[in-house]
Amino acid sequence: MPTHSHKTMAKQSTTISIQKRWPLMILLCIALSTAIAFFIGNNSCNSSNFNSPIHDFQSQSTSVETEESPLSFMKSKLVLLVSHELSLSGGPLLLMELAFLLRAVRTRVVWVTNQKPTESDEVIFSLEQKMMERGVEVLSARGQEAVDTALKSDLVILNTAVAGKWLDAVLKENVPRVLPKVLWWIHEMRGHYFKLEYVKHLPFVAGAMIDSHTTADYWKNRTRERLGIKMPATYVVHLGNSKDLMEVAEDSVARRVLREHIRESLGVRKDDLLFAIINSVSRGKGQDLFLKSFYEALQLIEEKKLRMPSVHAVVVGSDMSAQTKFETELRNFVAEKKIQDIVHFVNKTLNVAPYLASIDVLVQNSQARGECFGRITIEAMAFQLPVLVSLFPFSFP
Ligand SMILES: *[C@@H]1O[C@H](CO)[C@@H](O)[C@H](O)[C@H]1NC(C)=O
Ligand SMILES: *[C@@H]1O[C@H](CO)[C@@H](O)[C@H](O)[C@H]1NC(C)=O
Repeated sequence: MPTHSHKTMAKQSTTISIQKRWPLMILLCIALSTAIAFFIGNNSCNSSNFNSPIHDFQSQSTSVETEESPLSFMKSKLVLLVSHELSLSGGPLLLMELAFLLRAVRTRVVWVTNQKPTESDEVIFSLEQKMMERGVEVLSARGQEAVDTALKSDLVILNTAVAGKWLDAVLKENVPRVLPKVLWWIHEMRGHYFKLEYVKHLPFVAGAMIDSHTTADYWKNRTRERLGIKMPATYVVHLGNSKDLMEVAEDSVARRVLREHIRESLGVRKDDLLFAIINSVSRGKGQDLFLKSFYEALQLIEEKKLRMPSVHAVVVGSDMSAQTKFETELRNFVAEKKIQDIVHFVNKTLNVAPYLASIDVLVQNSQARGECFGRITIEAMAFQLPVLVSLFPFSFP
């Protein structure tokens, strides 16, 4: 299990000195969980870590002690972040967290999003606002300014394999000048990413950063065997939990207040047993199997006349605007089995801490091939929750 994830970048923000401000945290958590519900498009690798809270560095940046930060060597450097898309899914959110960590040590950070829908998008708009408020410069992915920034940058981070398409499309003849300063951050391991179209420049970049040893091995094998190319220097950096989440996880008063608040809002009593699945609702995440098993467990409890507390299930990550067909199936199942009173659906949220504080067991049931190691697993571990996992063999770190 990824117990060494403490050494990650997210954790390095510990030098940001803020005092224990749990009442504020609670307010923030509650406000976020109940008021701000974002809806996100379904995309690759949108493992549960889409839920990770975005750091609120704005109010903290004045107290940053840059000289103590392990990232302080990045002060005044220019970093270009190339995101394949902008949504509340795992990849872009991790990159945003990195952007804010870099901003906290006064790195100049420029962000471009390679794939954007043509019509205006509420989520993209609010995420871009968030970044700009924190001093991240948001540029169009195509255009001379992006090219100039890439040429001037000290470091260019390409986020996920698909972002590779940006290189040729935008930089054109400048590609070879930029490659030596590219760090390619790869999260996914799906078959269709092992395509030269995406990754033909991989051997020539400065380095690849991958979330787990298994994924790194898989990339090494696949690029060699399928594409006949060699991986560059590869660094395994495990995902870590955000500072905001850890603060709630380590504050027993905050946890208790959140637990009571969320349970009350769901209609779950203090001693009831609450199982949760926290992922964007989609077939690959296996919410259907979760609910089926939950129902079977109920039948078993009844048949065997087991004496145990009432059980409830909560599905956090509902999105009727995206996965309508699948979610309708889930809701129909619940209605058909007449378990509406004990199965709760909660919309997608930026902040999972309140739910982790309120549940008793997390179920991580990703089924799709190439699913990444979702951050929700280690987030739940920070809350000392038992986690029931069914992971595809290759997803394990
Ligand atoms: C990579 O290839 C080696 C040798 O061919 C094999 O032992 C290893 O299991 C493979 N790893 C993955 C993740 O495919
Ligand atoms: C959840 O999302 C749906 C749309 O998908 C919306 O109609 C509903 O109001 C949301 N619920 C809450 C509590 O925000």
